[in-house]
Amino acid sequence: MSAAPTPASRAMTVPDFRAARLRNEKLAVITAYDYTSARLADAAGVDAILVGDSLGMVVQGHPTSLPVTLRDIIYHTRCVVRGVRRALVIADLPFLTYQVSPRQAIRSAGRLMKEAGAHAVKLEGGARMAETIRRIVAAGIPVMGHVGLTPQSVHLLGGFKVQRDEPQLLADIRAVEAAGAFAVVIESVPADVGGRLTQAVSIPTIGIGAGVGCDGQVLVFHDMMGLFADFKPKFVKRYAELGAQVASAVETYCREVRDGSFPGPEHSFR
Ligand code: KIV
Repeated sequence: MSAAPTPASRAMTVPDFRAARLRNEKLAVITAYDYTSARLADAAGVDAILVGDSLGMVVQGHPTSLPVTLRDIIYHTRCVVRGVRRALVIADLPFLTYQVSPRQAIRSAGRLMKEAGAHAVKLEGGARMAETIRRIVAAGIPVMGHVGLTPQSVHLLGGFKVQRDEPQLLADIRAVEAAGAFAVVIESVPADVGGRLTQAVSIPTIGIGAGVGCDGQVLVFHDMMGLFADFKPKFVKRYAELGAQVASAVETYCREVRDGSFPGPEHSFR
């Protein structure tokens, strides 16, 4: 059951995230990487904006998120924070900015909070990242976990594949909760597994390709807006076809510039 968005004057907090689950209210999360889209999404009532390292693919044009740097996430999080009034802003820790040691993880997470203005950080990995999550949380930084398909391990996993090892997934999500994460993303697992993982923990689960049984959903902005004609995975619902609209607008603009119908008198100074 979904509740009406909290009034704009009231900013979302980490405790609000936990409270939403207790009240059985679904959480709507979206990725954003810039001021304009963050502002639009925030004004439309999303509960959280994730500055995901998916920006490596949808903004930078890489085949994976692996090349994304901490500086990239800091830059994009700063842009997003300026556009947000209400949503919780969660910044992703990029590949190799937290896996080396808990000390490195605290430093990186701290920079996302201090220099970029994030309200929380997200990192990938289950049981093997539990100690790191514990240490970041002990430093006063809220952590969102991420289990299932963890795209930073794409080469280890052999591709962007649905994850089906339920005992491992259960161990991972329980470890993330026990370590103190306030919420967890579940990516690319069968829908029934997503539901059972959600029942196995008490923190809110945010699904992407994990079925309706999760406490909330997250989608990548560019995917849900239909900005890439040639990319439509099963778990994405396109809420708009902006790619086609942008292409058509630019084609019309080119034609009108070339045939002299733009600018008209209404766009010209006298
Ligand atoms: O990087 C990202 O955008 C993510 C979401 C897809 C959950 O991790």
